[in-house]
Amino acid sequence: MSTWFRSWIWWLTIVPDGWDEPNRIHYVKPPGAALVARMDMDAFAMVVRNLIDNAANHGAPGGRIEVQVEQGGVIHIINEGPVVPAEALAGLKRRFIRGQTPSAGVGLGLAIAETIMAQTGGRLDLFSPAPGHDGGLEARLITKTAMAADLAAADKTAPR
Ligand SMILES: Nc1ncnc2c1ncn2[C@@H]1O[C@H](COP(=O)(O)OP(=O)(O)OP(=O)(O)O)[C@@H](O)[C@H]1O
Ligand SMILES: [Mg+2]
Repeated sequence: MSTWFRSWIWWLTIVPDGWDEPNRIHYVKPPGAALVARMDMDAFAMVVRNLIDNAANHGAPGGRIEVQVEQGGVIHIINEGPVVPAEALAGLKRRFIRGQTPSAGVGLGLAIAETIMAQTGGRLDLFSPAPGHDGGLEARLITKTAMAADLAAADKTAPR
């Protein structure tokens, strides 16, 4: 993992909402995992910050938040909370759309995050319940590097 990424993650874990709740945000990285992505640092920080803010504001109050970095360029931001129904989940990335939340906001964070990811050749996916959990939400950032690797894997299995 590059030093700049580590320092941004460190910064992001203390600055967003939730910073004053020790042990709420957990950074998980398998040994040796590296995240390599060609992306503007500020844009990347904006994406991750929006998603951590959402986890802190819209997830279960005081609930655990995990930022997991997967080898190959995928980042998972997972929070506890109720399941977001599929019909609602499908629209959340649209501008000015907000779900059931007591928290303030205008409904732009996910739209901005998705636009930035798309502009860099990547993707933002949302899952609820978070895969492997009974509830909550996972925002998954798939960088261009990871998408290219996926295509390469698909190529290998495609008939020749
Ligand atoms: N991690 C999450 N857990 C549960 N619900 C979420 C989560 N992230 C987003 N949502 C739902 O999706 C809606 C849209 O999120 P988005 O970030 O676009 O806007 P916002 O957080 O409401 O406002 P803004 O980001 O503009 O301050 C939220 O209002 C909330 O209902
Ligand atoms: Mg938001």
